[in-house]
Amino acid sequence: MAAKISGSVLVTGSNRGIGLELVRQLSESLCPPNQIFAGCRDPNGPKAKELRELAQKHQRLITLVCLDTTNQASITEAARVVGAKLKDGSLNLLINNAAVNIPGSLAETGEKQMMEVFQTNTVGPMLLTKEFLPYLRNAASQPGAQSEMSCRRSAVVNVSTLIASIEKCPETFHGAPMYPYRVSKAALNMLTRCLAEDLKKDGILVMALHPGWVKTDMGGPEAPLSTEESVKGTLNVISSLSEKHVGTLLDWEGKGIPW
Ligand SMILES: NC(=O)c1ccc[n+]([C@@H]2O[C@H](COP(=O)([O-])OP(=O)(O)OC[C@H]3O[C@@H](n4cnc5c(N)ncnc54)[C@H](OP(=O)(O)O)[C@@H]3O)[C@@H](O)[C@H]2O)c1
Repeated sequence: MAAKISGSVLVTGSNRGIGLELVRQLSESLCPPNQIFAGCRDPNGPKAKELRELAQKHQRLITLVCLDTTNQASITEAARVVGAKLKDGSLNLLINNAAVNIPGSLAETGEKQMMEVFQTNTVGPMLLTKEFLPYLRNAASQPGAQSEMSCRRSAVVNVSTLIASIEKCPETFHGAPMYPYRVSKAALNMLTRCLAEDLKKDGILVMALHPGWVKTDMGGPEAPLSTEESVKGTLNVISSLSEKHVGTLLDWEGKGIPW
Protein backbone atom coordinates (compact mmCIF):
# COMPACT_ATOMS: atom_id res chain seq x y z
CA MET A 1 0.00 0.00 0.00
CA ALA A 2 1.35 3.47 -0.90
CA ALA A 3 2.36 5.68 2.03
CA LYS A 4 -0.12 8.48 2.72
CA ILE A 5 1.81 11.61 3.63
CA SER A 6 -0.01 14.85 2.90
CA GLY A 7 0.43 18.51 3.80
CA SER A 8 3.92 19.98 4.08
CA VAL A 9 7.16 18.14 4.79
CA LEU A 10 10.70 19.32 5.57
CA VAL A 11 13.61 16.88 5.16
CA THR A 12 17.09 17.87 6.35
CA GLY A 13 20.26 16.60 4.66
CA SER A 14 18.39 15.85 1.45
CA ASN A 15 21.10 16.15 -1.21
CA ARG A 16 22.31 12.54 -0.98
CA GLY A 17 21.71 9.17 0.63
CA ILE A 18 18.50 8.51 2.52
CA GLY A 19 17.48 12.19 2.52
CA LEU A 20 17.60 12.44 -1.28
CA GLU A 21 15.59 9.21 -1.62
CA LEU A 22 13.01 10.49 0.88
CA VAL A 23 12.48 13.59 -1.27
CA ARG A 24 12.40 11.47 -4.43
CA GLN A 25 9.79 9.00 -3.17
CA LEU A 26 7.69 11.72 -1.56
CA SER A 27 7.63 13.75 -4.78
CA GLU A 28 6.99 10.73 -7.03
CA SER A 29 4.26 9.25 -4.84
CA LEU A 30 0.80 8.82 -6.41
CA CYS A 31 -0.52 11.00 -3.61
CA PRO A 32 2.33 13.43 -2.89
CA PRO A 33 2.38 15.99 -0.06
CA ASN A 34 1.40 19.55 -1.05
CA GLN A 35 4.83 21.00 -0.31
CA ILE A 36 8.25 19.38 0.11
CA PHE A 37 11.07 21.48 1.55
CA ALA A 38 14.44 19.89 0.81
CA GLY A 39 17.06 21.16 3.25
CA CYS A 40 20.63 21.06 2.05
CA ARG A 41 23.89 22.75 3.10
CA ASP A 42 24.88 23.87 -0.38
CA PRO A 43 21.95 23.73 -2.83
CA ASN A 44 24.05 25.27 -5.63
CA GLY A 45 27.11 23.07 -5.12
CA PRO A 46 28.21 19.93 -6.97
CA LYS A 47 26.93 17.57 -4.23
CA ALA A 48 23.36 18.79 -4.79
CA LYS A 49 23.20 18.15 -8.57
CA GLU A 50 20.76 15.22 -8.31
CA LEU A 51 18.57 17.11 -5.86
CA ARG A 52 18.48 20.17 -8.16
CA GLU A 53 17.44 17.94 -11.08
CA LEU A 54 14.69 16.39 -8.97
CA ALA A 55 13.47 19.82 -7.86
CA GLN A 56 13.51 20.98 -11.49
CA LYS A 57 11.30 18.02 -12.42
CA HIS A 58 8.81 18.74 -9.62
CA GLN A 59 8.96 22.52 -9.54
CA ARG A 60 5.56 23.04 -7.96
CA LEU A 61 6.24 20.53 -5.21
CA ILE A 62 9.87 20.82 -4.13
CA THR A 63 11.52 23.91 -2.68
CA LEU A 64 15.27 23.76 -2.07
CA VAL A 65 16.22 25.33 1.24
CA CYS A 66 19.76 26.27 2.18
CA LEU A 67 20.15 24.73 5.63
CA ASP A 68 23.20 23.87 7.71
CA THR A 69 21.79 22.18 10.79
CA THR A 70 24.86 23.07 12.88
CA ASN A 71 24.46 26.80 12.31
CA GLN A 72 21.77 28.74 14.23
CA ALA A 73 21.78 31.64 11.73
CA SER A 74 21.20 29.19 8.87
CA ILE A 75 18.37 27.47 10.78
CA THR A 76 16.69 30.81 11.54
CA GLU A 77 16.94 31.92 7.93
CA ALA A 78 15.62 28.57 6.68
CA ALA A 79 12.63 28.88 9.03
CA ARG A 80 11.94 32.37 7.66
CA VAL A 81 12.11 31.15 4.03
CA VAL A 82 9.96 28.06 4.69
CA GLY A 83 7.52 30.00 6.90
CA ALA A 84 6.85 32.50 4.11
CA LYS A 85 5.82 29.69 1.76
CA LEU A 86 3.80 27.51 4.12
CA LYS A 87 0.05 27.39 3.67
CA ASP A 88 -1.57 28.71 6.89
CA GLY A 89 1.92 28.81 8.45
CA SER A 90 1.61 25.05 9.01
CA LEU A 91 4.34 22.45 8.76
CA ASN A 92 2.96 18.91 9.10
CA LEU A 93 6.11 16.82 9.15
CA LEU A 94 9.73 17.52 10.05
CA ILE A 95 12.21 14.73 9.27
CA ASN A 96 15.52 15.33 11.08
CA ASN A 97 17.66 13.21 8.76
CA ALA A 98 20.99 15.11 8.45
CA ALA A 99 23.80 13.46 10.38
CA VAL A 100 27.50 12.66 10.32
CA ASN A 101 29.52 9.67 11.43
CA ILE A 102 33.20 9.87 12.34
CA PRO A 103 33.90 6.18 13.00
CA GLY A 104 36.24 5.88 15.93
CA SER A 105 37.54 3.49 18.55
CA LEU A 106 38.28 4.86 22.00
CA ALA A 107 41.92 5.42 20.99
CA GLU A 108 40.90 7.31 17.83
CA THR A 109 38.25 9.49 19.47
CA GLY A 110 38.97 12.82 21.11
CA GLU A 111 37.07 15.93 22.09
CA LYS A 112 36.99 17.28 18.51
CA GLN A 113 35.27 14.18 17.07
CA MET A 114 32.82 13.92 19.98
CA MET A 115 31.80 17.58 19.79
CA GLU A 116 31.49 17.71 16.00
CA VAL A 117 29.25 14.67 15.80
CA PHE A 118 27.19 15.72 18.84
CA GLN A 119 26.67 19.16 17.29
CA THR A 120 25.24 17.69 14.07
CA ASN A 121 23.41 14.61 15.31
CA THR A 122 21.93 15.88 18.59
CA VAL A 123 22.08 19.66 18.85
CA GLY A 124 20.99 20.14 15.21
CA PRO A 125 17.67 18.25 15.55
CA MET A 126 16.99 20.05 18.84
CA LEU A 127 17.53 23.51 17.32
CA LEU A 128 15.56 22.59 14.19
CA THR A 129 12.57 21.31 16.14
CA LYS A 130 12.60 24.39 18.38
CA GLU A 131 12.79 26.80 15.45
CA PHE A 132 10.01 25.09 13.47
CA LEU A 133 7.80 24.50 16.50
CA PRO A 134 5.43 27.43 15.80
CA TYR A 135 4.69 25.94 12.35
CA LEU A 136 4.25 22.43 13.76
CA ARG A 137 1.89 23.82 16.42
CA ASN A 138 -0.07 25.68 13.75
CA ALA A 139 -0.46 22.46 11.80
CA ALA A 140 -1.66 20.54 14.85
CA SER A 141 -4.24 23.20 15.75
CA GLN A 142 -5.72 24.00 12.33
CA PRO A 143 -9.54 24.06 12.51
CA GLY A 144 -9.71 21.22 9.98
CA ALA A 145 -6.93 19.18 11.60
CA GLN A 146 -7.73 15.61 12.64
CA SER A 147 -7.99 15.03 16.37
CA GLU A 148 -5.77 11.92 16.18
CA MET A 149 -2.03 12.30 16.15
CA SER A 150 -0.35 11.44 12.83
CA CYS A 151 2.22 12.60 10.30
CA ARG A 152 -0.65 14.24 8.40
CA ARG A 153 -1.51 16.36 11.42
CA SER A 154 1.86 17.27 12.96
CA ALA A 155 4.96 15.13 13.62
CA VAL A 156 8.71 15.14 14.11
CA VAL A 157 10.68 12.07 13.02
CA ASN A 158 14.27 11.87 14.22
CA VAL A 159 16.36 9.51 12.12
CA SER A 160 18.25 7.40 14.64
CA THR A 161 19.95 4.03 14.55
CA LEU A 162 19.87 0.55 16.03
CA ILE A 163 23.48 0.97 17.16
CA ALA A 164 22.43 3.75 19.56
CA SER A 165 20.36 1.22 21.51
CA ILE A 166 21.98 0.83 24.94
CA GLU A 167 20.30 -2.54 25.43
CA LYS A 168 21.56 -3.85 22.07
CA CYS A 169 25.16 -2.61 22.61
CA PRO A 170 26.63 -5.99 23.58
CA GLU A 171 25.36 -7.37 20.23
CA THR A 172 26.31 -4.42 18.01
CA PHE A 173 29.53 -3.02 19.51
CA HIS A 174 32.27 -5.40 18.35
CA GLY A 175 33.82 -4.40 15.03
CA ALA A 176 31.99 -1.07 15.03
CA PRO A 177 32.82 0.95 18.16
CA MET A 178 31.88 4.35 16.63
CA TYR A 179 31.99 6.20 19.93
CA PRO A 180 30.94 9.67 18.68
CA TYR A 181 28.11 8.37 16.52
CA ARG A 182 26.62 5.94 19.06
CA VAL A 183 26.77 8.46 21.90
CA SER A 184 25.29 11.30 19.81
CA LYS A 185 22.41 9.12 18.58
CA ALA A 186 21.71 7.76 22.07
CA ALA A 187 21.42 11.41 23.13
CA LEU A 188 19.14 12.01 20.14
CA ASN A 189 16.95 9.18 21.46
CA MET A 190 16.62 10.95 24.82
CA LEU A 191 15.91 14.22 23.00
CA THR A 192 13.15 12.33 21.14
CA ARG A 193 11.72 11.01 24.41
CA CYS A 194 11.76 14.50 26.01
CA LEU A 195 10.19 16.20 22.99
CA ALA A 196 7.56 13.46 22.76
CA GLU A 197 6.49 14.08 26.36
CA ASP A 198 6.64 17.84 25.98
CA LEU A 199 4.80 18.20 22.68
CA LYS A 200 2.06 15.59 22.94
CA LYS A 201 -0.14 18.17 24.70
CA ASP A 202 0.13 20.24 21.49
CA GLY A 203 -0.90 17.28 19.33
CA ILE A 204 2.62 16.91 17.87
CA LEU A 205 3.79 13.31 17.53
CA VAL A 206 7.55 12.85 18.09
CA MET A 207 9.35 9.54 17.53
CA ALA A 208 12.69 8.09 16.36
CA LEU A 209 13.22 5.80 13.38
CA HIS A 210 16.07 3.46 12.37
CA PRO A 211 16.22 3.22 8.55
CA GLY A 212 18.13 -0.09 8.54
CA TRP A 213 21.71 -0.58 7.39
CA VAL A 214 21.62 1.17 4.03
CA LYS A 215 23.99 1.53 1.05
CA THR A 216 24.90 5.22 1.26
CA ASP A 217 28.14 7.14 1.80
CA MET A 218 27.56 6.58 5.52
CA GLY A 219 26.33 2.97 5.39
CA GLY A 220 28.96 1.84 2.86
CA PRO A 221 28.70 -0.59 -0.09
CA GLU A 222 28.32 -3.70 2.09
CA ALA A 223 25.03 -2.61 3.61
CA PRO A 224 22.22 -5.05 2.74
CA LEU A 225 19.54 -2.44 1.99
CA SER A 226 19.21 -0.09 -0.96
CA THR A 227 18.02 3.46 -0.28
CA GLU A 228 14.86 2.60 -2.28
CA GLU A 229 13.93 -0.35 -0.01
CA SER A 230 14.78 1.50 3.20
CA VAL A 231 12.87 4.64 2.29
CA LYS A 232 9.83 2.72 1.01
CA GLY A 233 9.58 0.99 4.40
CA THR A 234 10.40 4.17 6.30
CA LEU A 235 7.63 6.15 4.57
CA ASN A 236 5.13 3.35 5.21
CA VAL A 237 6.04 3.43 8.91
CA ILE A 238 5.80 7.24 9.07
CA SER A 239 2.48 7.12 7.25
CA SER A 240 0.99 4.72 9.82
CA LEU A 241 2.14 6.53 12.98
CA SER A 242 -0.50 7.22 15.61
CA GLU A 243 -0.79 8.16 19.28
CA LYS A 244 0.58 4.79 20.39
CA HIS A 245 3.89 5.54 18.66
CA VAL A 246 4.59 8.75 20.61
CA GLY A 247 8.15 8.53 21.99
CA THR A 248 9.00 5.17 20.40
CA LEU A 249 12.04 3.98 18.48
CA LEU A 250 10.95 1.89 15.47
CA ASP A 251 12.86 0.39 12.58
CA TRP A 252 12.05 0.83 8.88
CA GLU A 253 9.73 -2.18 9.02
CA GLY A 254 7.81 -0.82 12.00
CA LYS A 255 9.37 -3.12 14.60
CA GLY A 256 10.15 -1.64 18.02
CA ILE A 257 13.78 -1.30 19.14
CA PRO A 258 14.61 -1.20 22.87
CA TRP A 259 16.26 2.01 24.08
N1 LIG B 1 23.15 4.52 6.06
C1 LIG B 1 22.90 3.74 7.12
O1 LIG B 1 23.19 2.54 7.13
C2 LIG B 1 22.23 4.33 8.33
C3 LIG B 1 21.91 3.46 9.39
C4 LIG B 1 21.25 3.97 10.51
C5 LIG B 1 20.92 5.31 10.55
N2 LIG B 1 21.24 6.14 9.52
C6 LIG B 1 20.85 7.54 9.63
O2 LIG B 1 20.16 7.92 8.45
C7 LIG B 1 20.33 9.33 8.19
C8 LIG B 1 20.82 9.54 6.78
O3 LIG B 1 22.05 8.83 6.63
P1 LIG B 1 22.71 8.53 5.21
O4 LIG B 1 23.16 7.13 5.26
O5 LIG B 1 21.85 9.00 4.09
O6 LIG B 1 24.02 9.45 5.32
P2 LIG B 1 24.90 10.18 4.20
O7 LIG B 1 24.79 9.45 2.92
O8 LIG B 1 26.24 10.38 4.81
O9 LIG B 1 24.16 11.60 4.05
C9 LIG B 1 24.14 12.49 5.13
C10 LIG B 1 23.36 13.72 4.75
O10 LIG B 1 23.37 14.61 5.88
C11 LIG B 1 23.81 15.88 5.43
N3 LIG B 1 24.43 16.66 6.49
C12 LIG B 1 25.46 16.32 7.29
N4 LIG B 1 25.75 17.34 8.12
C13 LIG B 1 24.88 18.34 7.83
C14 LIG B 1 24.67 19.64 8.33
N5 LIG B 1 25.43 20.16 9.28
N6 LIG B 1 23.65 20.39 7.80
C15 LIG B 1 22.88 19.88 6.82
N7 LIG B 1 23.04 18.66 6.29
C16 LIG B 1 24.04 17.90 6.79
C17 LIG B 1 24.78 15.58 4.29
O11 LIG B 1 24.98 16.75 3.53
P3 LIG B 1 26.41 17.12 2.80
O12 LIG B 1 26.37 16.46 1.46
O13 LIG B 1 26.39 18.60 2.76
O14 LIG B 1 27.50 16.56 3.66
C18 LIG B 1 24.00 14.49 3.59
O15 LIG B 1 22.98 15.04 2.79
C19 LIG B 1 21.32 9.80 9.27
O16 LIG B 1 20.62 10.36 10.34
C20 LIG B 1 22.01 8.51 9.70
O17 LIG B 1 22.54 8.60 11.00
C21 LIG B 1 21.89 5.67 8.41
